[in-house]
Amino acid sequence: MLEYCSRVIHIAGAVALIGGLFRAQSALVTALAVAGMFASGLYNLMLRMGAGVPKEYHMLFGLKFLLVLHIAAVSILAAKASTSEEKRTRMLKGVMISGFVVVALSAALRTL
Ligand code: HEM
Repeated sequence: MLEYCSRVIHIAGAVALIGGLFRAQSALVTALAVAGMFASGLYNLMLRMGAGVPKEYHMLFGLKFLLVLHIAAVSILAAKASTSEEKRTRMLKGVMISGFVVVALSAALRTL
């Protein structure tokens, strides 16, 4: 359990730190990051599914994918100039929670 928590805190910390730096760059960088996560994620999924996974894996992955769609949608909406600052701050708070849960679910997938 300690190993799992340490892994989640390490990955989440890296995501928050590096992600923040990327975020400050441009909407294009954000869009490229989202595309890269989907492409590499699909490849990861093909590798794992090829080796056979328990039914819990499908359930956890489905939950992760729904939260990833939330993150992707908000990343694109928040980058739009027409989005008000108040709305952007509210949306990004929600995405921070989804992001942490995605990392925790991803680390759990690895244990299955
Ligand atoms: C916001 C987007 C995403 C984040 C933050 C994220 C995060 C992560 C992290 C941190 C891991 C490694 C977990 C570990 O080794 O402990 C991981 C693994 C993985 N991710 Fe993602 N991911 C994202 C999007 C996606 C998408 C879109 C897909 C599929 C379409 C995907 C599929 C996978 C798979 C299959 C693994 C390997 C899990 C295993 O070991 O079986 N991810 N992800």
